[in-house]
Amino acid sequence: MIRLIYASTALKDWSAEDLLGLLKTCRTNNSARDITGVLIYLRRTFFQILEGEDETVNDVFEKIRNDKRHKDVTLLEKRTIDEREFPYWSMGFEKLDDFDLTSIKGFSHILDKDFTPEGIALNKGIISPLIHLLRGKLIRHVSEAKHEELPMDHEDPVIQLLHRTIRSGVKFLALLMVFVILLGIVDVIYVIYEKMISPPFLLMTIDDILDTFGAFLAVLIAIEIFLNITLYIRSDVIPVKLVVATALMAISRKVIVFDYKHLSSEYVSASALVVVALGVTYWLIQKKE
Ligand SMILES: Cc1cc2nc3c(=O)[nH]c(=O)nc-3n(C[C@H](O)[C@H](O)[C@H](O)COP(=O)(O)O)c2cc1C
Repeated sequence: MIRLIYASTALKDWSAEDLLGLLKTCRTNNSARDITGVLIYLRRTFFQILEGEDETVNDVFEKIRNDKRHKDVTLLEKRTIDEREFPYWSMGFEKLDDFDLTSIKGFSHILDKDFTPEGIALNKGIISPLIHLLRGKLIRHVSEAKHEELPMDHEDPVIQLLHRTIRSGVKFLALLMVFVILLGIVDVIYVIYEKMISPPFLLMTIDDILDTFGAFLAVLIAIEIFLNITLYIRSDVIPVKLVVATALMAISRKVIVFDYKHLSSEYVSASALVVVALGVTYWLIQKKE
């Protein structure tokens, strides 16, 4: 694979709409060609990083070079890479602000005045910290991502009202969940109390201890579900990792208190399969992060 970096000058000021149009083309084409990267537009200067197989990146760069919407297309870097810096972005886009510019120590003057193809070519030391900054920003966007299914500021007031209603519903569910958690805690106390007072007095058998574990784990699962709900309110993102973790906990809870004397081998094998599948899914999500 190679990483190719270039800068160019736009022939006119690009509006947000123009940039969105361009990004749409980039993302559709690049996804199909397994190209990833990032694009910056700052004061009429484009700065773009393209990563992918040598031939495909070179082809796309040729197209970009011939694009009549910009000029002074200047190749800044082309190198072989083993790993992509922007693996999740078919074309990430970043608007840099003054804070970003000054945060790249020692380079603020370049970014401020010489952020042009020529200026960057003369100050190539800026490229590496810039890649680092962009990567950090894009990753932050993903972790703070807001999906757009329930925006509070939808232009249609009826839809906005519906979104508010659903959000209130989710809040109500969270409230109910707290109630269920409190009931679960009372249940744990009751189970312990019952086991203690039944003969042999103040002693718990293995079965009693397993029953108590079951009650404890049920409360912990309720707390996980509560976290799912509240996270949904805060970020609007379905927390896949947390959902998988909750499912893993729920099935593990059953496994911990399995009474093998009374369970069929099919039931135990099916449960084992689910545990493995969820475990692998969780590991894959974790790895991708
Ligand atoms: C600054 C800039 C960056 C671009 N980046 C890409 C890109 O990453 N991928 C891409 O396919 N086209 C990109 N384009 C658009 C190409 O120049 C060209 O218009 C497009 O690839 C043609 O797509 P088509 O063959 O599907 O019509 C870019 C254009 C400009 C001006």
